[in-house]
Amino acid sequence: MMKFLAGLFLGVLILPSFLYLDFRFGKPPVATSDPPLPLEKLMAKTALHARLDREMPRSSPFKADAGVYLEGARVYKENCAVCHGLIGQPEPTIARGMFPRPPQLLDPKEMVTDDPPGETYWKAKNGIRLSGMPGFQASLKDEQLWAVSLLLANADKLPDEVNKELTPSSSEAGKKP
Ligand code: HEC
Repeated sequence: MMKFLAGLFLGVLILPSFLYLDFRFGKPPVATSDPPLPLEKLMAKTALHARLDREMPRSSPFKADAGVYLEGARVYKENCAVCHGLIGQPEPTIARGMFPRPPQLLDPKEMVTDDPPGETYWKAKNGIRLSGMPGFQASLKDEQLWAVSLLLANADKLPDEVNKELTPSSSEAGKKP
């Protein structure tokens, strides 16, 4: 019994005190360039996926076609490209200074074409807490959220006219969005 109480005391009081002292006087990661905390990524991803499983829409109320993609491209350029980049462009200034890093969603290596559009819709609508990914619920209409989500889900097979829309023109090339 005594051993159990001693263990409880240790667990309940001492460990949190050390944790507090470490945060107070140690060097917890607060700068974007600091390394992640142990398990930080795992914890964030587990919670996000549990929530997505419960809430993301399983099918899109809109059919993807060239018109929807063009609307999605306009939404993307205005609201997303500043962090997620355009086609064939160097990583934007803002993206380079963020933690976690915003994936370059038009770069074939980082596209979200494997995610169902409902997942991207949920993320664009609600944002991702403590990551810098904003929620656009208050600023974009539902049709716009779906248009940009369908665009990103099909980013590897867009019509030429849409790809052109997402490529900075030569006079803008090199200029950051
Ligand atoms: C201010 C910068 C910023 C803007 C603007 C922004 N995002 Fe993000 N976004 C992020 C960051 C940072 C992440 C990475 C979050 C993470 O890793 O947890 C992210 C993640 C995402 C993801 C998840 C990618 C993956 O690999 O799972 C999607 C999808 C996404 N953003 C879509 C959008 C869309 C659509 C818009 C515009 C309507 C947008 N974002 C605007 C910063 C931004």
